[in-house]
Amino acid sequence: MSNYPLNRLRRLRSNKALRSLVRETQLSTADLIMPCFVIPGGDRKEPVEAVPGVARLSIDNLIKLGVELIKAGIPGILLFGIPQHKTDDAASSWDENGIVPKAVESLKKEVPDLAVITDVCVCSYTSHGHCGIVKDGQVDNDRSLGLLAKMALAHARSGADMVAPSAMMDGQVKAIREILDKNKFEHTPVMGYSAKYSSAFYGPFRDVADSTPEFGDRNTYQMDPANSAEALREVKQDIAEGADIVMVKPALSYLDMIYKVKNEFNYPVAAYNVSGEYSMIKAAHKAGWVDERKVALEVLTSIKRAGADIILTYYA
Ligand code: PBG
Repeated sequence: MSNYPLNRLRRLRSNKALRSLVRETQLSTADLIMPCFVIPGGDRKEPVEAVPGVARLSIDNLIKLGVELIKAGIPGILLFGIPQHKTDDAASSWDENGIVPKAVESLKKEVPDLAVITDVCVCSYTSHGHCGIVKDGQVDNDRSLGLLAKMALAHARSGADMVAPSAMMDGQVKAIREILDKNKFEHTPVMGYSAKYSSAFYGPFRDVADSTPEFGDRNTYQMDPANSAEALREVKQDIAEGADIVMVKPALSYLDMIYKVKNEFNYPVAAYNVSGEYSMIKAAHKAGWVDERKVALEVLTSIKRAGADIILTYYA
């Protein structure tokens, strides 16, 4: 039953000041994390066509970006490494002199206020492009755990503020928590990519990280986009294994999951506004169909409104 004309919802929309007073969601640069890609060498900056405005950077240029981010009020980055060589066993992923540990050391020295979160997954280090060790044509869950744990430890040793396992192997948070604790990194937090879906929105990213699987797809480890209850089981499991922050990825097509995870667990929730979501806006803007800034802010605000505390976005 309508209470009109007693109630008129338009009253509080009549000017900018009133709208600002009743605005329920505030998006802030303090909520954002910038995903970054580091490559070996010096003075390198390789723009990625599929993700306009994003480039693979050598450490010196990454430091410059870090300084800019801090100036803009962005508290942290999510760091992905792109090694010189890929091998079947992803050996360079846990090398303590590898590209990510080196980058973390330099960043923590030159831009100490920037939180450096490292992505823990081997897909950009394996020659086959899968997120774990392949045995008899299958991604072997339990064989991959030791590798992911060693990789996380190498990152923690180099000074990473947080590690973020994204391989979607069962038990990865537990394996990482255990190795960190055993090596006196009990205070290094873990952000689990808990509900990571097998999504076509990752397409442009695979161009950046050169991590397209050589055979098959990621459907045996990443989640089916049709599933909701299963995502809550994934999150529950990661929390039980010691995750400090849980993530839903992608963000925009999964706002319902962000909402459910926040309401069900009341844990810090991160949402990853992935490459495809970003590049779609860029493309539509280029075609003259949408206002990029407005659309981007609307998308990021909706992710926050759904319940995300932290948003990983190339718009950072
Ligand atoms: C690697 C990883 C992916 C992304 C982040 N970590 C790609 C994938 O799983 O294929 C995607 C990020 C993006 O699209 O922006 N496990």
